[in-house]
Amino acid sequence: MPRGAVIYQVYPRSYADTNGDGVGDLPGITARLDHIASLGVDAVWLSPFYRSPMKDFGYDVSDYCDVDPIFGTLADLDALTARAHALGLRVITDLVFAHTSDQHFWFNESRQSRDNAKADWFVWADAKPDGTPPSNWQSVFGGPAWTWDARRGQYYMHNFLTGQPQLNLHSPAVQEALLEVVRFWLDRGVDGFRLDAINFAMHDPALTDNPPLPPGGPRTRPFDFQDKIHNQSWPGIVDFLKRLRALTDSYGGRFTVAEVPGDRADQEMQAYTEGDDTLNSAYGFTYLYAPALTPDLVRATAAVWDGRPGQGWPSWPFSNHDAPRAISRWAEGRDLSAMARLTTLLLMCLRGDVFLYQGEELGLPQGEVPFDRLVDPEAIANWPKTLGRDGARTPMPWTADAPHAGFSTIEPWLPIDPRHLPLAVDRQAADPASQLALTRRLIALRKAHPALQCGALTMLDAPEHLLLFERRQDDERLLCVFNLGHHTLDWSPPEGWQVIEAVNGDEGPLAPLSGRVLSPVSGAFA
Ligand code: BGC
Repeated sequence: MPRGAVIYQVYPRSYADTNGDGVGDLPGITARLDHIASLGVDAVWLSPFYRSPMKDFGYDVSDYCDVDPIFGTLADLDALTARAHALGLRVITDLVFAHTSDQHFWFNESRQSRDNAKADWFVWADAKPDGTPPSNWQSVFGGPAWTWDARRGQYYMHNFLTGQPQLNLHSPAVQEALLEVVRFWLDRGVDGFRLDAINFAMHDPALTDNPPLPPGGPRTRPFDFQDKIHNQSWPGIVDFLKRLRALTDSYGGRFTVAEVPGDRADQEMQAYTEGDDTLNSAYGFTYLYAPALTPDLVRATAAVWDGRPGQGWPSWPFSNHDAPRAISRWAEGRDLSAMARLTTLLLMCLRGDVFLYQGEELGLPQGEVPFDRLVDPEAIANWPKTLGRDGARTPMPWTADAPHAGFSTIEPWLPIDPRHLPLAVDRQAADPASQLALTRRLIALRKAHPALQCGALTMLDAPEHLLLFERRQDDERLLCVFNLGHHTLDWSPPEGWQVIEAVNGDEGPLAPLSGRVLSPVSGAFA
């Protein structure tokens, strides 16, 4: 994968349904690969399609080496990969290695007794003398990170749902078993992996309590009260990542990206990618949950990722299947389509690999999902307090006038927001001024300019609300300027620079949400 790649995320449940059950499937993705290839992206990342009881919609895996029947078969995956390769697209799959489903046979065996062959494959611990859990650790989705199991008379640990028992990656046998899974998919021709919540995959074996955080910050879950240094973020995970990298390298040209949420993300992202023997990239959350898009946010990120040796290589998404769609999060009452144009240009100007989430190329706002249609357990439990993930997972609108927007023939698993219909692919396909056409153009812009794709990024001083930076690679220099504020700002390019791409206005003062990329007029700096 080239550094600076553009990777398109597909959430299989919501892409395209070909068997009429209201849930997207692998043949549906295959049928739509031409759409993905037409964007000009390098790769497609598929969220999990493995066998799963779907308590966390596939992030609770009960068989790492099979396709869930709801999505199709292994042969369907092979067909998808073959078609993707024919179109010049790499295929990246999701490895969920911090936990399995409680229906996985590894866990079924492990929970039977304290001395079976897989007894230590999960994180089991005795109760405290008063019967309470072994540590104060809390789960991401609310409530303690420990659940009692009467068979073993012990607690098992889970950082997410109770149905997602934590794998014990301190066990060499577990590491071997997981590397076997990686081999299985490499042998099937998969081009790379995204490692789900990988900084959650190793815990402090002493089960030390997490310290409390000082008061402050939003607290919707007990999880938010703790400095999470013992249930996650254990540095030993890097050794496992190196083993994984050695394996993918032995197949040549494969790609690995770690998903790294949490309070120490930048540090961990760098530790996971700093050498040639660690992962290729790490996927950061800086923009995913940011309530506002400000110059300071981009500046702070650039300061952390300033290109010093030993830093590794970041990946940036603005939206995904977990976070509310960026344009809705950042609009602050401004025009959503203008916001979509701006965010796409900014994303294509960032240093790192960039991830585009399905529907972002259409400028879809966050879907409205009424309470009685919610399916995300976290959203239901905490409604209306946490943002919930269903609104980012509503089905792709393919054909505005077809039933269910051409996604399926029956009512889909999540409702389609009526505001998405005029943004359907068929409506935008013929319109050169559409967000879809713009997305293709801006991806092509990134590809055409090594400075944007993989060059250095230097922040330049600018008045409040204005974001100004330079990208440079060898002798190519580009200036990128964005008005992230609510008011028009005066700004003139330095002498000798010309606009080569612009959104929301290409000359004169910078309108709110306008962005421009400039290059030196030929010969200007000769
Ligand atoms: C995935 C989520 C999932 C969680 C647990 C993540 O970060 O993106 O969708 O619920 O890991 O696997």
